[in-house]
Amino acid sequence: MDSEKNSSGIPLYTRKNRKGLSSYAWLGFVLVALVASATVLQQCYSPDRAIAGRLGKAGAAAAQPKCPSVGIHRPETYDTYKKTLDKIMNDEGFRNESVSKMQHAVRIDTSSFDDLPLDVGSNLPLFEHFDVFLDSLRKDFPLFHEHTELHKVNHHGLVYIWQGSDESLKPLLLMAHQDVVPISEDSLAKWEHGPFSGDYDGKYLYGRGSGDCKNLLISHFEAVEELIKAGFKPKRTVVFSYGFDEEILGPRNKNAEFIEELYGAKSMYAVMDEGGVSMMEISGTTMAVVGTGEKGYLDVSLSIQKKGGHSSVPQDHTAIGMMGSLIVEIENDKFPTYFVEKNPTFYQYVCLAEHAVDIDPLLKQDILNSQIDEQANANVREFMNRDRFTSYAIKSTQALDVIHGGVKYNALPEFVELVVNSRVAVEESVTFAFKKFLKDAETIARQYNIGLSAQFPYSNGTEVVILPATDVGIMTVKPITILEPSPVTAANDMHWKIFAGTARHVYEELAYPDRFNNSDEQVVVTPGLGTGNTDTKLYWNLTDHIYRYRPGVLPSVNGNSHGINEYIEFDSHLQCIAFIFEYIQSVDEIQD
Ligand SMILES: *[C@@H]1O[C@H](CO)[C@@H](O)[C@H](O)[C@H]1NC(C)=O
Ligand SMILES: *[C@@H]1O[C@H](CO)[C@@H](O)[C@H](O)[C@H]1NC(C)=O
Ligand SMILES: *[C@@H]1O[C@H](CO)[C@@H](O)[C@H](O)[C@H]1NC(C)=O
Ligand SMILES: *[C@@H]1O[C@H](CO)[C@@H](O)[C@H](O)[C@H]1NC(C)=O
Ligand SMILES: [Zn+2]
Repeated sequence: MDSEKNSSGIPLYTRKNRKGLSSYAWLGFVLVALVASATVLQQCYSPDRAIAGRLGKAGAAAAQPKCPSVGIHRPETYDTYKKTLDKIMNDEGFRNESVSKMQHAVRIDTSSFDDLPLDVGSNLPLFEHFDVFLDSLRKDFPLFHEHTELHKVNHHGLVYIWQGSDESLKPLLLMAHQDVVPISEDSLAKWEHGPFSGDYDGKYLYGRGSGDCKNLLISHFEAVEELIKAGFKPKRTVVFSYGFDEEILGPRNKNAEFIEELYGAKSMYAVMDEGGVSMMEISGTTMAVVGTGEKGYLDVSLSIQKKGGHSSVPQDHTAIGMMGSLIVEIENDKFPTYFVEKNPTFYQYVCLAEHAVDIDPLLKQDILNSQIDEQANANVREFMNRDRFTSYAIKSTQALDVIHGGVKYNALPEFVELVVNSRVAVEESVTFAFKKFLKDAETIARQYNIGLSAQFPYSNGTEVVILPATDVGIMTVKPITILEPSPVTAANDMHWKIFAGTARHVYEELAYPDRFNNSDEQVVVTPGLGTGNTDTKLYWNLTDHIYRYRPGVLPSVNGNSHGINEYIEFDSHLQCIAFIFEYIQSVDEIQD
């Protein structure tokens, strides 16, 4: 991302001169890294670039600390299984075996294509690679398969149940997806390692799915295999759920329904899936960002129907001309911005304000005062709204993506359609966003004196908003695809303490003890917002605690997901295994 910088590279945040604000690129990266399918995110993110913008010296310590940072959390059984943990993190033999298991997973091409049929059962040959994938899992992880019960849902959805001894405890649900993004033919030549080679050079492992997110899936199997070998027997049931069409929006994924049938609504202790930003340096602090909410989604169609005719005798405004006005109206009518506690991004900025060493004192003050001082709140919103990579986090967005209309040079267009893609802020709803577009449509319909009808989200029928006068045309507004913003996971409870505390434990005590031991430095674990959607959208009924976070860190845990030369740094994979290993134990020890 290019951004303005002054000659020292220090972005400016002064009330007098806010020109430099867009150079807060680093803030953008934190957020950008949470965009799109949890996966695209890490593609955009690179820690080196993220460090680029350093801020001015910190001001005096500010009041109102609200960052939900937590203490390190170790399981009570830490010492019991420490030997195994050491092996996972440091043993060369384990690492070698683990490399070959990841290679097996990456070498099976499980690409999801957009045109795959919805009906899996009638098209089994098209999904055969998932059988191969399952066979490979069975071979590499025999103990896992011996100790769990596998349910195949809609043929290739995998739900494994590792039965705990205490049925009064809510099961923990760990997720990932089996499918990957296809390789485009024309990019093939640009892959330095074959996309399904699984090449390993001692440090990095290459191939489609290595980062998104077969590594997460495999780390579940690795961790459980090691727990079983070490003699761990769960009190709390652990459920593992793997979809097979996440990259094509998940309509074939019936796993959540299956789990809900089996256990009921709100029956899970927590859900953990891909997403988040594993660890990054920002302005002198180290942050791990856990996705605790996702924006919603609305594709809305706005069309104009008008009587056609010969274009030698046109009216002043054809349907295309009217659509032009509507386009201008929509783009000029922006969604409101918010900087409030409901939005995970709010906490992320509060954490920055509290912990970043080099943050500009004015910015810090404004962030910390934002809930009691309207001007401070407005300042922060204005600042974030200047850069598209930060603005999306504080408002609903709109993108005019598709338009068609007109068929012949000499004929008046009878039908013009515009499709707008909107990502709905967690503070709002699909209906709120829809009404904004309807309001824009009404403005233009009245301007041209044409009719307007609307089909509201969740309703089948069409409502007449403006009765069409004879013959002049009618505008129609209707939703195509809708998804509400997700509920936001709390970051002030025991569930969060254990999750975030486990991340600190893994990074500070296991992965980089030399750096963190006897040092004031800590990993600040903060909530963050995903603008895209993971498979978790199907799991809202099952729990209020959904964490979108793929552990495993530096320097670039997940290179080029969805892109060319996707890879993973192998240390990251081992850290991910360690996280799952420790998290299962910690969750097993508490009541709920
Ligand atoms: C691990 O693999 C490397 C590279 O193939 C090899 O040199 C090393 O001896 C192996 N170590 C063990 C303990 O298997
Ligand atoms: C929409 O129509 C379907 C079938 O035509 C019907 O089953 C459903 O109840 C309707 N929903 C609403 C909200 O009217
Ligand atoms: C951290 O340092 C203390 C001594 O200050 C030492 O006892 C402990 O073993 C160290 N921990 C790690 C993980 O290195
Ligand atoms: C969640 O529960 C509601 C109400 O029981 C149900 O209508 C809906 O289909 C469920 N959602 C999913 C994704 O299963
Ligand atoms: Zn993914």
